[in-house]
Amino acid sequence: MLEKLLCIVKEASLLMGDRNLRIDQKGNDSNYVTSADLAVERFLDEKLCALLPGSKVLGEENDFADFGCQYLWVVDPIDGTSNFIRDLGLSAISVGLLKDGQPYMGVIYHPYRDEIYYAQKGKGAFLNGRPIRVSDRDFTHSHLCSAMSLYDKSLAAPCFQVIQEVYYQSDDLRRSGSAALELAWLAAGRVELYFEIRLFPWDVAAAAAIIAEAGGFVEFMFHDNMPLAEPFGLIAANTAENFEKLKGIVYKHIPEKMY
Ligand code: IPD
Ligand code: CA
Ligand code: CA
Repeated sequence: MLEKLLCIVKEASLLMGDRNLRIDQKGNDSNYVTSADLAVERFLDEKLCALLPGSKVLGEENDFADFGCQYLWVVDPIDGTSNFIRDLGLSAISVGLLKDGQPYMGVIYHPYRDEIYYAQKGKGAFLNGRPIRVSDRDFTHSHLCSAMSLYDKSLAAPCFQVIQEVYYQSDDLRRSGSAALELAWLAAGRVELYFEIRLFPWDVAAAAAIIAEAGGFVEFMFHDNMPLAEPFGLIAANTAENFEKLKGIVYKHIPEKMY
């Protein structure tokens, strides 16, 4: 099934090639959806349900609300929509599969570099067919990927505090505009630390499966399992030591749920 899934995701990316975009705003000033987001999601909805009969799809652009099924696809048709609109080449398709609510399979495709990251529980993590693993860099030599809650800027202040504290103790920072891509980089050993205060399951479902298989660590802040019906904070790291240190800094500045 994984092989077929990779083909489906790559085929879906062809729908990102149409630059004749309709762009609509969602809720907040910085939050957009394009005709390509909708086309990719429609395509994946149909193909994924056919690939695994009985499964359901939770996608960023649909409002599905029955999470009771055994197999649930969790789809971000374009992660990094703002990058996509600006043609920055930093957007990805993210397709996670949960089995009984737990990350089971994940695919993140970065079409601009033709890089496909994927994993299935117990079977390892791969990038374009090659096994991947998190890096072993220590905190001092780490890169942190982070963001300041673009869609709810009232949460930004403590994020800046976390970022500042980590910055002084690590190597450098990155903010690409695609959480899925940054988490895939962490799995592939390209960056080491990740923190964002407010993400949704479609940003994370695929990456959680891939990072776990690549030997990394992920925590959904204030939750044991990934919530499906509400946003949550995410902390991830390459090694147990870096994970504990990053968690210490994050929870110092954000000791309780802020929303
Ligand atoms: C966003 C990107 C961004 C992250 C936001 C996400 P979208 O997803 O992943 O990096 O900081 O929290 O919502 O809206 O481009 O699919
Ligand atoms: Ca997203
Ligand atoms: Ca999206």
